[in-house]
Amino acid sequence: MSTPILAPRREGLRGVITGAGSGIGRSCLELFLAHGARVDAWDRSPEALADLNDRDDVATRVVDVTDPESVAAAAAEATETWNGIDFVVNCAGGFLVGPLAEVSADAVRKLFDLNVLGTTVVTQALLPALVASKGAVVNVASSVALKATVSNSHYAASKAAVAHLTRCWALELGPQGVRVNSVAPGPTMTAIYQSAGMSAEQESTLLRERAATIPLRRVGEPVETARWIARFALEDDWTTGTVLPIDGGMSL
Ligand SMILES: NC(=O)c1ccc[n+]([C@@H]2O[C@H](COP(=O)([O-])OP(=O)(O)OC[C@H]3O[C@@H](n4cnc5c(N)ncnc54)[C@H](O)[C@@H]3O)[C@@H](O)[C@H]2O)c1
Repeated sequence: MSTPILAPRREGLRGVITGAGSGIGRSCLELFLAHGARVDAWDRSPEALADLNDRDDVATRVVDVTDPESVAAAAAEATETWNGIDFVVNCAGGFLVGPLAEVSADAVRKLFDLNVLGTTVVTQALLPALVASKGAVVNVASSVALKATVSNSHYAASKAAVAHLTRCWALELGPQGVRVNSVAPGPTMTAIYQSAGMSAEQESTLLRERAATIPLRRVGEPVETARWIARFALEDDWTTGTVLPIDGGMSL
């Protein structure tokens, strides 16, 4: 468990983290629990959630965020389980690498379903509960949404969409008291690259090449992003519409 570093705006905040089984989402889950939050942990992989089943402060749900019906059912169950929802962290996401000449239409469609549609349907399904609590949405964009890079244009475009949805939803939902922010992490050591079909060698080449272009000359750790997500979801009450780079300066 991570050491508490924030002062949550209320005791026992309740909310949903998608992609909570691995990487940045799992790091958020650990940090949120260390700050007294109660978390509805969603992932499409039951195995990734299996170690969480015996805790009072966590409910696990196997949910594919690209399936609006199962998202709607999970949102209703989560709201009932915790008697309300104060935050949602849209962390479930996927990566796609490859030049324009080689990318398949099916892969692009699946990527946008996961990164853009998934973020949309999860937030939409939880919106009545978030309006009731004057809650917080935190989306996970990427540093490549802020600066053009080669060989992952569709991933970058899907994350640019997430960044801009953040700004538009902040404007739309602000009058109802709902804050919407996003983080834009640089390359971070997680399972995402191998889940996208890259070999360990391809992953290490990509991360090494990216690290060489980053002013701080290294890639990130999941907790370095999770700390800012926690700040937006649990503590801050005044920021909205932000796309915060957490990337060692990569997007400069
Ligand atoms: N790792 C990086 O370098 C990096 C950089 C910038 C942004 N991001 C973003 O951070 C977020 C988290 O990624 P990560 O790096 O921790 O990856 P990860 O692969 O470690 O974790 C992603 C989790 O999402 C789950 N998931 C995937 N598809 C899902 C679906 N359809 N429904 C529900 N759950 C699903 C996976 O099972 C996994 O547990 C993603 O949105 C990713 O695009 C990652």
